[in-house]
Amino acid sequence: MKRDFINLIDFTETELMTIIKESSKWKKGRYSSYGISKNILEGKTIALIFEKASTRTRVSFEVAINELGGNSTFLSVRDLQMGRGEPIKDTARVLSSYVHGIVYRCFSHDMLNDLARYSSIPVINGLSDYGHPVQVMSDLFTLYEHFGDIKKLNISWIGDGNNMANSWIEAHLVLGFSLSMACPEGYEPSDKLLKKALKNRNFRITNNPEEAVKGADVINTDVWISMGDENQEEERKKAFKGFQVNKNLLKKANKNAVVLHCLPAYRGLEIAEDVIESEQSLVFVQAENRLHAQKAILEFIYKKKGANKNG
Ligand code: CP
Ligand code: NVA
Repeated sequence: MKRDFINLIDFTETELMTIIKESSKWKKGRYSSYGISKNILEGKTIALIFEKASTRTRVSFEVAINELGGNSTFLSVRDLQMGRGEPIKDTARVLSSYVHGIVYRCFSHDMLNDLARYSSIPVINGLSDYGHPVQVMSDLFTLYEHFGDIKKLNISWIGDGNNMANSWIEAHLVLGFSLSMACPEGYEPSDKLLKKALKNRNFRITNNPEEAVKGADVINTDVWISMGDENQEEERKKAFKGFQVNKNLLKKANKNAVVLHCLPAYRGLEIAEDVIESEQSLVFVQAENRLHAQKAILEFIYKKKGANKNG
């Protein structure tokens, strides 16, 4: 049966931890024969359908696919018949007969689910309005590298209850680390996820950033204006005032706390220049780790059952 990668909540703790640990092996083995000998995607082509801009997701997937022995084909929705109204279910069935997988970056999570439903090949969420699971896998790997045991961490989220926030809640639900979120009123994450997470004693949500970072090992943030929210720029800038990750906020967290941001970052809005450039910032390690995490995700999906390390 094909395996999609759409929501983190669809996976078990063991599965997510396997991907995180494999990311570490891919990172260490990038310039040795470790990776190349596996050829996990030999003879395979993966399509990347993007409705939105991307630097990290596109390039890290293209390089990962290439380094795993496969080919990628980048398809901007503008150039596809999908952009002229061809139904997603038709696109799904046609592409399934050409390629071996699809990474889809889209506006609507429902469209992503439809693409997966009608495709006979694996579909990977490259970011939707609901979640950004491949980014959070890289972030979890970054924390695993830095701290070791992820389950023991107090992780905070400051800012928008957006796609990233939702994927962090899903990661909390699967892996069980503590998660404290601070979002302005009206900008909370998915209701459905909140309902589940609020049953856990180690999940909190507040409107007060200082409260959320108290005792935090990790401070996480993201843009105030996500792709697709551009028409709300002014109201969002007002609503998010006071939610900047700056030195003052950092002081309220644990002494050795680290800062994460999935990028692109807007210095002076959600994050201060002297924080993103500080020694406590793991932002550029996090970005590099996208490449290693993509390989581990692709390996998880495409590795033949029973194959050994060289299989
Ligand atoms: N963090 C992230 O997904 O970046 P891109 O939008 O550049 O892919
Ligand atoms: N929340 C942001 C993430 C960008 C990688 C967006 O959706 O634009």
